[in-house]
Amino acid sequence: MDAIVVEELRKVFKPGWPGRPNVTALDGLSFSVRRGEIFGFLGPNGAGKTTTLKILMGLMRASGGRAEVFGKPAGDVQTRAMIGFLPESPYFYDYLTAEEFLAFYGQLAGLDGVKLRERIVELLDLVGMTEARHRQLRKFSKGMLQRVGLAQALIHDPELVVLDEPMSGLDPIGRKQVRDLILGLRDRGKTVCFSTHIIPDVEMICDRVGVVVKGKLLASGPVDELMSRGQTQTVEIVCEGIDPHAVNAIHASATRVIERGRRALVVLPGSDRVDEVIRAIHAHGGRLMSVTPQKGSLEELFFAQTGTPWPADPNVKVPA
Ligand SMILES: Nc1ncnc2c1ncn2[C@@H]1O[C@H](COP(=O)(O)OP(=O)(O)OP(=O)(O)O)[C@@H](O)[C@H]1O
Ligand SMILES: [Mg+2]
Repeated sequence: MDAIVVEELRKVFKPGWPGRPNVTALDGLSFSVRRGEIFGFLGPNGAGKTTTLKILMGLMRASGGRAEVFGKPAGDVQTRAMIGFLPESPYFYDYLTAEEFLAFYGQLAGLDGVKLRERIVELLDLVGMTEARHRQLRKFSKGMLQRVGLAQALIHDPELVVLDEPMSGLDPIGRKQVRDLILGLRDRGKTVCFSTHIIPDVEMICDRVGVVVKGKLLASGPVDELMSRGQTQTVEIVCEGIDPHAVNAIHASATRVIERGRRALVVLPGSDRVDEVIRAIHAHGGRLMSVTPQKGSLEELFFAQTGTPWPADPNVKVPA
């Protein structure tokens, strides 16, 4: 059984007063999340990510279609206890300290005593907030609140963790920490579904991705497969000690040859002629230094399918 199933999901927002048009936020969206995987729910601003996650959490009603978690309709009370959720704009009780806040949520989830205290220590450490544990939440930065919010989502050690933009507001180190945290959850057999509009976050850690645009699924599948689908996969070969232009097998196969000192970079349009070129390098007394397939990216896929570039986020600098 899948962790999440969304089928032909629709959500139409009706305006508060007459004359205003309806907003179709979800327009027949379908995807599923398998148990034990990290699923990236990727889409530009306004695509319908938060709306979908709210429906899955039972916080909002769909206008049509199916939304199920662990085989039960979204919002089912028993299933809800198996889910940890980080909302997009979490509401925090300002005057609680980080520790008190987690204790509050832990008690709601039925934890208490030593078990709860130990869990809080563990989680504060996991999200790097141990030092700030006695500080009131109103004195926290956005990134610090995000970390405490993550700890809150994990307090009852849920089977499924649903995170709405978990890396938002974090600096590059914080983003890396959250990525590692998500990978750690998968290692422990948990299922993680998180939304984002940052492509590299998905490329770096997700097993599968669903790309949503204007309330519809644009593409979904294993990240590796989508990254190479329909795109020419070039192969770069670096060699040393030969003149590549003088070797027919090389210059006839390459789309580009760049020479720098004794080294040459040979770019092949695909993998068909790799063996032939390597043999030619050796046959002419050259040395092979590296062979690197260049993967496509989800950004290319998006461009190929929509004809528009992925909207850049000037606030996010993703480390290489
Ligand atoms: N309560 C609401 N009333 C009316 N329209 C809404 C409401 N909530 C969302 N929408 C609209 O639904 C669409 C999808 O919004 P949603 O918040 O789900 O997008 P998102 O993918 O989470 O975007 P972001 O990346 O900016 O968080 C948008 O056009 C938005 O304006
Ligand atoms: Mg959102």
